[in-house]
Parts: sequence; structure tokens; C-alpha cells
Amino acid sequence: MKKIIALAICLMALITSSASALETNDKKFVVPPLKYSYNALEPYIDEQTMRIHHDKHHEAYVGNLNKALDKYPELQGKTVEQLLLNINKVPSDIRETVRNNAGGHYNHTFFWNIMSPNKGANPKGNVMKAIERDFGSMDNFKKLFKQAALDRFGSGWAWLLKDNSGKLSIVSTANQDTPIQLGLKPIIAIDVWEHAYYLKYQNKRADYIDAWWNVVNWDRAEELYNER
Ligand SMILES: [Fe+2]
Repeated sequence: MKKIIALAICLMALITSSASALETNDKKFVVPPLKYSYNALEPYIDEQTMRIHHDKHHEAYVGNLNKALDKYPELQGKTVEQLLLNINKVPSDIRETVRNNAGGHYNHTFFWNIMSPNKGANPKGNVMKAIERDFGSMDNFKKLFKQAALDRFGSGWAWLLKDNSGKLSIVSTANQDTPIQLGLKPIIAIDVWEHAYYLKYQNKRADYIDAWWNVVNWDRAEELYNER
């Protein structure tokens, strides 16, 4: 009888510890896997860059974010959007870390999904109509977007963003700042940190941008544009 009781106690302890482990894990951010293989964007974005970018750089943002939140359980379980929209409520000792690393997590998660193999054709549908309406033509849009990406001094991003009325704009953000705080919805974005292109393109950021158009997932952009 004693053995049965001891076994039951052990079993309960195991279930409780598993549940709390799951709960803890659920509150940790994780890097989402790519929806395509590491070499799927070749020859425009090389496999080694994708592996390092996704597995090392993005992983580092997520690891740093989780570590910063370790001492503030009340912030665990919040989304990156919630953290970034309320960044001034994040304790000052981790605010900059959260801003940079939650931003890095948000931006990169967006970036992996706005790229896809064999999607290099021009957009169709509502996003194309909006681009032509707001920038005159696809060619002019690409020219302005490329310029914004080139003009970003140091590290950052260039974005195509939509406001509540559907109007599009091109914005460049520094470091891992996001467009969330601007209240605008991202439609496409390019990472122009050197880690995104240096292995293949070295200092030629313009060549990387030109090549990147071949992997833009315009189907996803159309979905995003059609969402509220
Ligand atoms: Fe990056």
C-alpha cells in the first residue's frame, strides 16, 4: 500500500512539474521555422546567409528577449506587439533590450514570411492597384523603395506600409525599430543589416536589393493588404 501511495505521489509530482515546464515554455518566445528550405531562395539569397541569419541572428534576438523578461514574470506571455506598443511601461533596466530584441523578433518573423521561392513576379490584385495609385507605377515604387533601403545609414529596414484608409507609404526604420509604433501595417519589408547580405554581396547593398525583388512573396503581401 505504501508503495502505491509513493508511486502516486511521484506521478503527481511528475505531472505537476511537466505542466509547469510546459507553462514556462509557452511563455518563452521561439524562432518560427522557415516555411521553405534554407537554399530555396538561391541564387538571390544564399543558403549560408539564410542559415546564419535565421538560426543565429534571429535566435539571438529571441534569446536576449527571453533572458530580459526572466526577472519580470508579469511581462512573460505578452506578445511582441504588446511589449512594443507599451514599451514605456517596460521597466527601464530592460527597456532598451526589449525594444531592440522584441523588434528584432517581430521584424525577422515578418521578413521570413514575406519571402518565398518562385514569387518574383509583380504583384496583382489590390496591392498592385494601390501601388500604382500611390506611386504612379510599379517601376517608380521599386525605385523609391530601393532608395529608402539604400539611404538607411548603418543598419535597419525599408518597409511598404498601409494606413487605415489603405494608402501606402515607404518608410525606413533604424536598427530593429518596427513600424508598429507608427500605427501602420507592414505589407513588405527588406532587412538591410549587413548580416542579411554581406556574405554574398559584400558592400553592394544595391545589388542585394535588386536581387531581393525575385523572392518577394506578393501573394502574402496581397493577403496583408486585404486584412484590416
Ligand atoms: Fe536581420
